[in-house]
Amino acid sequence: MPTAVVTGGSGFLGSHICDRLIKEGFSVICIDNLLTGSIGNIEHLYSNPEFTFINHDVTYYIHITVDVDYILHFASPASPLDYQQLPIETLKVGSMGTLNALGLAKKKGARFLLASTSEVYGDPLSHPQKEDYWGNVNPVGPRGVYDEAKRFAEALTMAYNRTHNISYLYCTDI
Ligand SMILES: NC(=O)c1ccc[n+]([C@@H]2O[C@H](COP(=O)([O-])OP(=O)(O)OC[C@H]3O[C@@H](n4cnc5c(N)ncnc54)[C@H](O)[C@@H]3O)[C@@H](O)[C@H]2O)c1
Repeated sequence: MPTAVVTGGSGFLGSHICDRLIKEGFSVICIDNLLTGSIGNIEHLYSNPEFTFINHDVTYYIHITVDVDYILHFASPASPLDYQQLPIETLKVGSMGTLNALGLAKKKGARFLLASTSEVYGDPLSHPQKEDYWGNVNPVGPRGVYDEAKRFAEALTMAYNRTHNISYLYCTDI
């Protein structure tokens, strides 16, 4: 049975991903520090022996002893209200959190999925945005913390792919 780590797994999207992976026969390790997520989103999975919850801030080293096949990196405040109230946490999880999640992927030889966002395009000058459009982001504006964190996370994911051959996917719109 494949094992998937879901960072941000007690959040809105991450908890549904945990549900789906369990249903598909995965063993799931959900890592979340409950910054914007809720135990209520995952407590129905507690009795399932294939589900493990680790209360951990992924901006710190992620220690997992078992083999891991997939890492789905969803940890990050996502709503404009949250990331504007949590600007430094948002930048830290997009940078240091992504670095730690990619480090785990490298160590385990796991495939990596980054939950990015169309916010990487900032205030786009092109509609609809295509994959070869690079965006129009104000790095010092109030939304810059989220946009730049995700842009850094995408750049880091590609650097790990090119340097360490980490197999990746990233979703710009979920
Ligand atoms: N909801 C959307 O419409 C949408 C759209 C595009 C991208 N995304 C991306 O999807 C992901 C999940 O979004 P969501 O709507 O479920 O948000 P959410 O706030 O409900 O979930 C995010 C989860 O990440 C956790 N988290 C935050 N910082 C953490 C840290 N340092 N360590 C461990 N856990 C941490 C939170 O506690 C929370 O459970 C985010 O990365 C977001 O950028 C969401």
